[in-house]
Amino acid sequence: MKFLDAEMIRTAVRREQYPDMNLPEIALVGRSNVGKSSLINCITNRKKLARTSNKPGKTATINFYEIDRMLRLVDLPGYGYAKVSKVEKEKWARMIETYLSKRDNLVHVFQLVDARHKPSEDDVMMLNWIREFHFEPIVIATKMDKLKKSQIEENLTVIYETLGLDDSATLLPFSAEDKTGSEDVKELITELYEEYIESGKTE
Ligand code: GTP
Ligand code: MG
Repeated sequence: MKFLDAEMIRTAVRREQYPDMNLPEIALVGRSNVGKSSLINCITNRKKLARTSNKPGKTATINFYEIDRMLRLVDLPGYGYAKVSKVEKEKWARMIETYLSKRDNLVHVFQLVDARHKPSEDDVMMLNWIREFHFEPIVIATKMDKLKKSQIEENLTVIYETLGLDDSATLLPFSAEDKTGSEDVKELITELYEEYIESGKTE
């Protein structure tokens, strides 16, 4: 995949609003403000394709981005943002859960965690849920540009251990700011796309 053509094709809250299931989808999940929307902008080389904000809770709908007309990246609302109301939180949780559990063309879920911090309880729960639903654990550690060189190994180890990852899991360091890992993320998506096509599940 070349990541040249990127377009937001749909914004959805309810299931009836999702686009057709004719293309494979990869969902991005993670705490509010972790950098899900920024990752989409970074790998598509577009500044404002997905709306980002330094205020958590920016993405409040499920946004579908079609890449090269081959695959969709699905930007989900973030979890764990303390300042939204309980009602709002429950609404988002239901929205995320409905999408993740009822989407036959969802082939992978990427979990984003902030490289500066130990993953939260919500992060651990999310990854366990991903495993329960038989998606392979793929974790992207964001905001790597904020770490000093001396912190990198230690912080990645904390993430690896807190999330209970093993050799079969993928943990990719990434920064939307300086593009660290951007090529790796694109390669990974391309590989997963090819795997999916070869698996013959497209019919
Ligand atoms: P929600 O939509 O609220 O769930 O957040 P999100 O996960 O989509 O986060 P978003 O991409 O909007 O980024 C949140 C803030 O973090 C913005 O101010 C971004 O500029 C900043 N940010 C995102 N990625 C990086 C990164 O790699 N490095 C740095 N330094 N800042 C980043
Ligand atoms: Mg967002």
